[in-house]
Amino acid sequence: MLSFMDHIKIKFRHFILPQEILIQLAQPHQTILDIGCGLGTFLMSLDAEKKNLKGVDVCSATVNKAQKILVQQGKTNIDIAHFNGDPTTISNWEHYDMIFLNDVLHHIHPKEQFNFLMKIHKKMRKGSLLVLKDIDASSPLVFFNKLHDLVVNRQKSYERPLAEYIEWCQKLGFLLDNVMKVRKLVYPHFIMVMTKI
Ligand SMILES: C[S@@+](CC[C@H](N)C(=O)[O-])C[C@H]1O[C@@H](n2cnc3c(N)ncnc32)[C@H](O)[C@@H]1O
Repeated sequence: MLSFMDHIKIKFRHFILPQEILIQLAQPHQTILDIGCGLGTFLMSLDAEKKNLKGVDVCSATVNKAQKILVQQGKTNIDIAHFNGDPTTISNWEHYDMIFLNDVLHHIHPKEQFNFLMKIHKKMRKGSLLVLKDIDASSPLVFFNKLHDLVVNRQKSYERPLAEYIEWCQKLGFLLDNVMKVRKLVYPHFIMVMTKI
């Protein structure tokens, strides 16, 4: 059963997330993997175009809720599954054109973040794209995201400055296609689009 907070998250997520940019980035691509998909709201926003959509999340309670929403709404081209949090255990990596990581890295322990990205890079098919969307810790507005995560998710968050992610992704061998900074309300987002070469 969806809680009051789940309904709020689904209804208002697009007010704080630069979802229109993410949807536009996904538009030309057919097979999409959303790692840390949560309740699947982003995948559901792509549904109209009948893409082949897969979401995974480490939280089994959230995955159960997302699966119920999919059944209720009769969405047959979206598959959401639980996984253990290790990207190397996700199957069919060669199948995906584009991988999204929307607001997941700041929920991962700082000591694990680079490793998590390295595993994704290792498994991605050459020529496929990674969209990394997170919160820029170099902005003082990061405070609002920390407050949000404490209040809404009851979690401490571990944002990093965009410059650090750029350095990491280049070190891993990604080709950076585009980097955007977008403020939505009080949230200082960044979006990196990169190709596995
Ligand atoms: C802020 S929510 C974002 C959900 C969704 N991506 C969105 O933008 O609406 C962060 C999500 O990351 C998930 N998460 C945390 N650690 C993870 C990991 N190691 N692998 C995959 N997902 C993880 C959480 O369970 C949660 O659903």
